[in-house]
Formats: sequence, structure tokens, C-alpha cells
Amino acid sequence: MKPIQVGLLGIGTVGSGTFEVLKRNQEEIQRRAGRGIQVTMVADLDVARAKSIVGANVQVVDDARKIIANPDIDIVVELIGGYGIAKQLVLEAIEAGKHVVTANKALLAVHGTEIFAAAHKKGVMVAFEAAVAGGIPIIKALREGLTANRIQWLAGIINGTTNFILSEMRDKGLTFGDVLKQAQALGYAEADPTFDIEGVDAAHKVTLMSAIAFGVPVQFDKAYVEGITKLEAQDIKYAEQLGYRIKLLGISKRTPTGIELRVHPCLVPAKRLIANVEGAMNAVMVNADAVGTTLYYGKGAGSEPTASAVIADLVDITRLHTADPLNRVPHLAFQPDAMSSLPILPMVQVVTSYYLRLRVADQAGVLAKVTGILANADISIDAVLQREAGEGESHTDLIILTHDCVESKMNEAIAEMQQLSTVLAPITRIRKEELN
Ligand code: HSE
Repeated sequence: MKPIQVGLLGIGTVGSGTFEVLKRNQEEIQRRAGRGIQVTMVADLDVARAKSIVGANVQVVDDARKIIANPDIDIVVELIGGYGIAKQLVLEAIEAGKHVVTANKALLAVHGTEIFAAAHKKGVMVAFEAAVAGGIPIIKALREGLTANRIQWLAGIINGTTNFILSEMRDKGLTFGDVLKQAQALGYAEADPTFDIEGVDAAHKVTLMSAIAFGVPVQFDKAYVEGITKLEAQDIKYAEQLGYRIKLLGISKRTPTGIELRVHPCLVPAKRLIANVEGAMNAVMVNADAVGTTLYYGKGAGSEPTASAVIADLVDITRLHTADPLNRVPHLAFQPDAMSSLPILPMVQVVTSYYLRLRVADQAGVLAKVTGILANADISIDAVLQREAGEGESHTDLIILTHDCVESKMNEAIAEMQQLSTVLAPITRIRKEELN
């Protein structure tokens, strides 16, 4: 049978990995797909560089629309990134009746509703395994492997750059700024590291996972997003003393009143496997009613790990493209007419536990006042740690771990504690998840 013909829009790190792995494993892939899969066209502004990667047998053009216009191309792989031209080209490819594979989490998290609706109307597939956690087949797991379950929550380390930064801060006692420079030199950070360190990249990914876990539309605009730029090395140290590690987590939970969708630094018990995911690695925990808790671990970025996900999508499409669209796996796991309207909860309605660090005057009665405010707010304390004041110091650090409470109550309690004359600096608050 004639091989499936693929056009790559962009041949950077992921595109060249895709080309290389498809070539290297072509026989194995064909045995699985039932048919050959061949990159026959590549569009890239740097035509000379693209030609040096793909050789003479692949047509290289500098205009992506030439791929979309080619009737022989079955699948368009979008590896341009961003919401600009990439969105236009994906919509044009769909309109031209092409199936689309994309690694573009930003595009789908923000414009997914429009793109999936266009694909549904046209009867084509838009596959995006590579958009979340690189080589880890988490989309496949959520959308198909766990399809028997009612998923309760998921929590993931889904940004390698920030996990690398946090690991280095903990291991070497370095500051955030120093490790960021190292991460950039190693090429982990996105072109604009703001997306990594401010939690935006992780929020794009958790938005996609949340949609397929709970069957809700992608709603990146409703996600709570907090990065790691304000994290201090001393909080990592105190957390460690209390038996916790700090990770940047993307979390989504089903509650009776809505879906929690949030990214923020989080204390996690050091004994959990996910707390021991170090460096640029990714991991996602999923808790579901029948299977219990499962954990998926691996490389969340890089040329061949991401290519592994792109090619898995190419194989899926090769197997399914002749099936009636109604018999394919729905884009967001649930049938389009069976999506849930459960709202994304605002952060003030989220229930979680907290780590608080207060710089306080080292005087009698300070602890009583602070705990009194928490008690009045009905916030139960789990543990307290007080740093011994240093020689000649008149202040100290008070670390409090709380049990679960609703965020709005914690906001009020923090505001009240901040008013105390014995609280000498802005209070640090980091959320905590037991993940059990
Ligand atoms: N910049 C991302 C990360 C990789 O650090 O995990 C691609 O999503």
C-alpha cells in the first residue's frame, strides 16, 4: 500500500528528531502501522539547513502553504509553535482536509475549542501527544488507557526547566537567578523563559490534561498560574526539615462544584515518588476510581523523546484515518455532545493545605497571636517549626503547616496576621498537597 505522506511545518529540534526516528525505525513502524509513513515535504524558512537534514529525496519549501495545498499530503505536522501563524496554518490544513499532528500546547490550550470544532466539522483528526510531557504517553493514557475510570485528580511535574531549577536550588543551595542562567545555557528553557518560570508552559499542559480527564472544554484563561520566581532557597530548606520537597505542580481536581485548574509551587511529601523526580524529568500522577493512583515518568522535552510522541500520533492516524470519524477516539476523550459544563473554580474556592513562613519579632506571645488568628478562621494547624534566633538577632522565622482549608479563608487570615506589629515582613505562603 502507498505510504502515508507527511509534511512537516518547521524542522527544528523536534522536526529533525521526527525525521531521524521515522527513518531509523521505519521497518518497525511500518509493521505496527500496517503501512509506511514517509516525510515527503518540509517547510522551513531556512531551506538550506532543512535540506541538509532531510537530503535530496524530500521536497523542501519555504512556504508552509505549499504543503497544505499538496493533495498528496495526508498529515500535516505543525512544529512552528506559538499562537500566530501556527494557528492560521493549522486551521487552513484542517480546511484542506488534512489530519494534523502538533506539539503546540500553547495553541491548543488557548484556541483548542475552535480548532477541535473545525476538525470535527471536517472529519479530520488533530493529535497532540507531543504537546504534554514530551515523550511520556500521558494523553494516550488519559484518553484511552484510563477510559474505564472516573478520574478524580491529576498532578504533574510538566515543566522540565523549573524542575531542573528547583532540584539545583535544593541540591546546591543556589539562588533562583543563578540556576536560571544555567538552565538557559543547557537549552532547557523555552525561547522566552518567562513561559517556563512563570508557570505558563505548565498551565498550557495541565489545561489540556484537565480537558481530557474530565471532558470539559480547554479553558486556559481560567487556570490559576503562579511560577517559581519568588521562591526562596530558605523555604526549600525549611520544607525539607518538615519532610517535604517543593515542586512546581500542574494540578486539576474534580470537586462537586467544579474543576480545580492550577499551577503553583507546592510542598509534596518527600516520600512520594513524584517528589523524587529530579532535574529536567517530568512525571504525572493520575488518581482514578477503578485503577487507583498511577504515575507516568520520563523525558518531557528534547528532540527524540518529543519525536516519539509525534510519531505515535502519526501511527494512530495511519491506523484510524479510514475509520468513520464517529468511531475514532474523540479529540478530548469525551464525545463532543457529551462534554461537561462543570465550571473551572476560581482560586479562592480551592481547598488545599498550606506552608506559611512568618518573619516575626522574637517576643513572648507572638506565636499565640498568630495561632489565635488561624484558630478564629477555623484553620487547623498540622505542624509548627520555629527557627532559633541567631546570636544578637531580635527576630526569627515561624513556619506553620496547616490542614486543608478554603483559599479565601487563608487569604483573610494572612491579611490579618500581616497586620500584627510583630510580623516583620510579607508572609510567605506555599500550597501543600499530600497526593495520597
Ligand atoms: N520548556 C519545556 C520544559 C519543554 O521545560 O519542560 C517543552 O514543553
